[in-house]
Amino acid sequence: MHPFLLAVSGASGQPLAERALQLLLAAGAEVDFVISRGGIAVWQAEQKINIPGNLIDQESFWRQRTNCNGGILRCHRWNDQAATIASGSYKTRGMIILPCSMGTVGRIASGVALDLIERCADVHLKEGRPLVISPREMPWNLVHLRNLTTLAEAGARIAPPIPAWYQQPKTLDDMVDFIVIRIFDSLGLELGNLKRWEGPVRINYKP
Ligand SMILES: Cc1cc2nc3c(=O)[nH]c(=O)nc-3n(C[C@H](O)[C@H](O)[C@H](O)COP(=O)(O)O)c2cc1C
Repeated sequence: MHPFLLAVSGASGQPLAERALQLLLAAGAEVDFVISRGGIAVWQAEQKINIPGNLIDQESFWRQRTNCNGGILRCHRWNDQAATIASGSYKTRGMIILPCSMGTVGRIASGVALDLIERCADVHLKEGRPLVISPREMPWNLVHLRNLTTLAEAGARIAPPIPAWYQQPKTLDDMVDFIVIRIFDSLGLELGNLKRWEGPVRINYKP
């Protein structure tokens, strides 16, 4: 089995990425993991954590944070355009950008690969491999919408981190799990147990 490529850019919602990493590793998956420079800054601002710059230290850091020794984890540096994952000859099962900033959306949509995430997204599109983009911004302006449409037309799956209430979440963690698992549904991967919609609840409903 080829690895998954999990990328995190500088949008709000880094706990989604952390949970995705944990579920992938717990499922025994092989994961290539890359965080953009903006993503590192958001992680510091919102979660108050400093991500080690040294990649070996970073791998141990995520192992500790996710409390998971399963699977295989390889971290990559945001500006390493010579990384294995930057090449089309490196096969993957697909790439997920979770969460994805509007800056990254715009650069991928216009074919400008300034960092490793953008290069990998470009590679996934050119190779016709699954690319799932989870854009996080609110509200979306016309430029965002047009860029997302361009990406959808180019073959990406747009899966925004939008919660639902039909699974009756009790905690924020329930909500995170719902979003992460639904995003991985886009790759045909069932990552965890999810209460899925089973039709209307039969109550004494009289419209
Ligand atoms: C705390 C914080 C939260 C942010 N949230 C978002 C967001 O939800 N969506 C977005 O598009 N940009 C957001 N930004 C701005 C991006 O981080 C910024 O545009 C950055 O340059 C994106 O870099 P990247 O696309 O290379 O990851 C946020 C910035 C900070 C500091």
